[in-house]
Amino acid sequence: MQARKYEYRDVWMNGAIVPQEQANVPIFTQTAQRGANVYEGIRAYWNAEKQNLYIWKLDAHIKRLFQSMKIMRMTTPYTFDEYKQACIDWCRANAFREDVHFRLVVYLGDGGPNGVKMFKPGEIEFGAFITGGPRPHKEALENGKHFCVSSWRRISDDVMPPRVKAGANYQNSRLASIEARTNGYDDAIILGRDGTVAEATGSTIMIVRDGDLITSPVTGGILESITRKAVLKMFERSHNREPQERPVDRTEIYIADEVFCCGSAEEVTPIISVDRIEIGDGKPGPITRRLQGIYFEAARGMSPDYVPELTPVYA
Ligand SMILES: Cc1ncc(COP(=O)(O)O)c(C=O)c1O
Repeated sequence: MQARKYEYRDVWMNGAIVPQEQANVPIFTQTAQRGANVYEGIRAYWNAEKQNLYIWKLDAHIKRLFQSMKIMRMTTPYTFDEYKQACIDWCRANAFREDVHFRLVVYLGDGGPNGVKMFKPGEIEFGAFITGGPRPHKEALENGKHFCVSSWRRISDDVMPPRVKAGANYQNSRLASIEARTNGYDDAIILGRDGTVAEATGSTIMIVRDGDLITSPVTGGILESITRKAVLKMFERSHNREPQERPVDRTEIYIADEVFCCGSAEEVTPIISVDRIEIGDGKPGPITRRLQGIYFEAARGMSPDYVPELTPVYA
């Protein structure tokens, strides 16, 4: 087996902090057998000056977790506040003093020998865990990434809703990502059934044309990204210009002045080519750079405007 790329630490599992070796989900569970889970990928940023770790947009993540559970007809094993406290407890238990990425997962447990039709709430147990670890600043944030347009299409709201952050949805992303990397790209843009841009395998796609920031609408077969919403607001505030949420054609990407992707994992990452076509002058653009700066200042607790969006981990 390959060495793990990221360093994992102790795990929060169903109410207790346990060493990673003891954090096991049985093979009898629906999460192990059918990918039946929903989750959130969340960042916490270390502020060296304030000597504190800040979880970025924690309330928004837990709100979306509840929305995912609602759509997937799942019963929550914990309350909103208990999930929130669990995230803080997990960070504290690992005594992080660096940037961190973690996943809060709610899963379907053991349902016996029943088939896929089963498991209405009350017929199966649910569990939850938090795992993750340090995630240092990536080089691609500075230099940008090379994308392609995938030959795979995005799952849709009437098949398996991308609005739900379900583990199973990432099999669609995985196919696109493997195809992209096999062909020498960093990642892929996935089109929806209508041929317009949906999103990337794990992030939102944004383009800049003549000073306008444009991205696909939340009804365009995408995850309702928390970073997307934040970046649109950041653009509006900083550029005094309303961003556009409308369908984006594939060819608009090629002729855009700037393209970037954003998300909890990708943060704000420039895309410098798509299908080997250079975007703009082939370098990260000025609006992308400016939004990157605003994003990191906000998430790291350096901007008073965004303090309400942060959950401090240490007292
Ligand atoms: C498919 C997809 N789209 C968009 C995003 C960005 O969402 P968020 O900003 O809420 O992390 C993610 C990452 O979580 C994702 O997996």
